[in-house]
Amino acid sequence: MSDILFSSSWQSPSNIALIKYWGKYGVQMPSNASVSFTLSECRTETTLEVLPAGQGPKVELYLDGEKKDSFTPKIEKLLSKLQSEMDWIEGHRFRVKTHNTFPHSSGIASSASGMAAIALCLCDLHEQIDGNRFSDFYRRASRYARLGSGSACRSVYGGMAVWGKHEDFPHSSQEYAIRLTEGINSVFQDFQDTILLVHSASKEVSSTVGHDLMDHHPFAKKRFKVAGQNMTKMKAILSSGDVEAFIQVVESEALMLHGLMMSSLPYFILMKPNTLQIIQKIWDYRKQNGTPVLFTLDAGANVHLLYPSEYKEEVKKWIDAELSMYCENKMYICDHVGKGPSRLNP
Ligand code: DP6
Repeated sequence: MSDILFSSSWQSPSNIALIKYWGKYGVQMPSNASVSFTLSECRTETTLEVLPAGQGPKVELYLDGEKKDSFTPKIEKLLSKLQSEMDWIEGHRFRVKTHNTFPHSSGIASSASGMAAIALCLCDLHEQIDGNRFSDFYRRASRYARLGSGSACRSVYGGMAVWGKHEDFPHSSQEYAIRLTEGINSVFQDFQDTILLVHSASKEVSSTVGHDLMDHHPFAKKRFKVAGQNMTKMKAILSSGDVEAFIQVVESEALMLHGLMMSSLPYFILMKPNTLQIIQKIWDYRKQNGTPVLFTLDAGANVHLLYPSEYKEEVKKWIDAELSMYCENKMYICDHVGKGPSRLNP
């Protein structure tokens, strides 16, 4: 006999920040606003089952059918944060069955897509148990996702999302992300992101530790100010479609993020030699061919190669000829701006 009382399944994509979230305070509040592209192919698919209270751990997690105890503390922490607004959490146990569409050992963080999927399942379960519909379903899911992992709150929407209060983005909030719907030039609506997998081992320094190092960082104040200014620039760029200006802001944000890591105490470097080789190649190619290819980085060694969709074929040839050799096992993932999460049939 099945022990499942309620169940919900969602898929949620990962996202790549253009203006970076790096530094937080209080309960997962960002020190500056950030903006991202939601991706399409890099997704987490999750089923969350509600089980009767009783013997056994509060949360059991299976990744591709295999029990993973290392992932459960983050989810337990999220559930305990949400207990006060979803009182049914207390009297139940949970089983999480999850699968990532990207290779497990790719060095791609699954916390954004993973936490967003869990948050969407929780909202859905609350509706099932409570019998009422949320009028603010995605906003709520975004807030719940943020409590699990900051960047996850931007993954609950397709297209582009902004998280963090910023005067140029009406309705933006510290507590949840909002979807950007207006003022986005068509060039950005199907932007391509090919993720060049430089280093697959898990990160030497977690994002959470990195964020904490911003607390006493000598450049923190200036960084948060510049991030705000970059958001202002980005707003204008998104509406004008000025790809040249986009390149400058996005690459500068990526390098600044890594510059902050290199200038914190303790300092650390997450880029690998091949990360720099690829960056140099991108700069050379752009200069020689005038093709608007650019890079961004998250908190790791992989390079996100961004470009407008009209250059897709040309760029693919170039990657195979000149960039894939810098990737581990020549691996890369072709992704692009996507439509966001969706409910799955369990
Ligand atoms: C560099 O969202 O992973 O990718 O809130 O501690 O879970 P926690 O951190 P996380 O940080 C992501 C940092 C980043 C930039 C970004 O996505 O904005």
